[in-house]
Amino acid sequence: MANNAKLDLGDKTIDLPIIEGSEGEKALDISKLRGETGFITLDNGFVNTGSCQSAITFLNGEKGILRYRGYPIEQLAESSNFLEVSWLLFYGELPTAAELESFTKKVASFNTLPEGIEKIVDTFPKTAHPMGVLSSATVALSAYYENHLGPQPTDADKDELFAQLMAQLKLIVARFYRKSLGLAPIASDPSLSYSADFLNMMFENTDADVAKALDVLLILHADHEQNCSASTVRVVGSSHANVFTTISGGIDALWGQLHGGANQAVLEMLEQIKNEGGNASSALAKAKDKEDPFKLMGFGHRVYKNFDPRAKIIKVACDKVLEKLNVNDPLLEIAKGLEAEALQDDYFVARKLYPNVDFYSGIIYKALGIPTNMFTAMFVLGRLPGWLSQWKELREDPSAKICRPRQIYIGQTERNYKKIEDR
Ligand code: ACO
Repeated sequence: MANNAKLDLGDKTIDLPIIEGSEGEKALDISKLRGETGFITLDNGFVNTGSCQSAITFLNGEKGILRYRGYPIEQLAESSNFLEVSWLLFYGELPTAAELESFTKKVASFNTLPEGIEKIVDTFPKTAHPMGVLSSATVALSAYYENHLGPQPTDADKDELFAQLMAQLKLIVARFYRKSLGLAPIASDPSLSYSADFLNMMFENTDADVAKALDVLLILHADHEQNCSASTVRVVGSSHANVFTTISGGIDALWGQLHGGANQAVLEMLEQIKNEGGNASSALAKAKDKEDPFKLMGFGHRVYKNFDPRAKIIKVACDKVLEKLNVNDPLLEIAKGLEAEALQDDYFVARKLYPNVDFYSGIIYKALGIPTNMFTAMFVLGRLPGWLSQWKELREDPSAKICRPRQIYIGQTERNYKKIEDR
């Protein structure tokens, strides 16, 4: 194949270099387009735009493939654990036993929050949405670690921040949960695994099977290449803003129900269907009605147009967790019925709409005892190593630039100001 594509603009033809990734994905390098022709590209929602070259996560939406650093998600979910996967994402290779042990100890060593952060978390109303608390407390950490605010983090800074944020966001989520119920916080226990410690800080539960189920969920959420929140992290980080505010930006982007907020929205949708008699058909009809803004939450994906491999793993995990916890949740039956009906419906088939990672995750979180409005905060804990890895890769890329897209202006052309009495 040629190394260049030709773009014919009528009076001018230019060569656009072709870039090929390690999995054969091709792109046209348009970085010189405007300078040479005056044209820009217009791509609403960045559907066709590669914003960077990345070696972290590969996914192929048509084939339903997801790999972190080359390792299939199925293998990692089956055999790894969340901290090992986090290390893999951040450093690019699986850790040795000594590296994993030292990283695990380092994460566990951040077992308290600065007193001021505890006070900030405790000051929020009990009814506050956990995502707002988490985003605020994360950016507030910047006030306590001024040594990490400089524009050029060193390798040692990045190592430290990685372990520190992995630990501290977990502490913030658990503390706010306890506070919101009027319960005293439970101290982090460095002898427990990441997930067992979290469950202990929340519910005083250290059941190994339950912790394993949570660990799998976190692994499945750990990275997903250039999605809305990862792109936000890269956009904020591209200005050399500090890591606390950069990650806080990712949390904010994740909150929306078209993204991470879908897990909460799915459960609310299933509850509503149950309260209305458990009939999935009316929800499907609403989702298909173009006059109605309602969408089938947990269905569809910008990239997966075959199936979401994470959804397959979660569905199996969901059955296991409910069995282990002896939970008989009618919402699971409604979800399965809804999925079966949607997968046979011409509307969903034609648009290649399949259940995504969030369709079943909420049912597991609910079985674990996590309140519905905390589901998206759980997603944050899972996605954090991905965001930190995207941030690290960005900051280590010598070709990285501040993100600054262009636009096609469609507003008024120049006109003269009129005094208020003349309008
Ligand atoms: N229910 C009903 N119709 C849908 C749904 C849905 N969940 N998702 C997409 N469609 C329809 C659209 O209306 C559109 O129909 P049209 O071609 O007749 O206009 C067509 O399918 C294509 O959808 P787009 O909105 O163009 O797809 P896009 O890639 O922009 O959006 C998104 C993807 C945001 C995930 C969308 O499918 C959606 O809103 N799903 C529900 C929310 C959700 O589950 N989000 C979580 C995503 S996973 C994650 O972020 C972790």
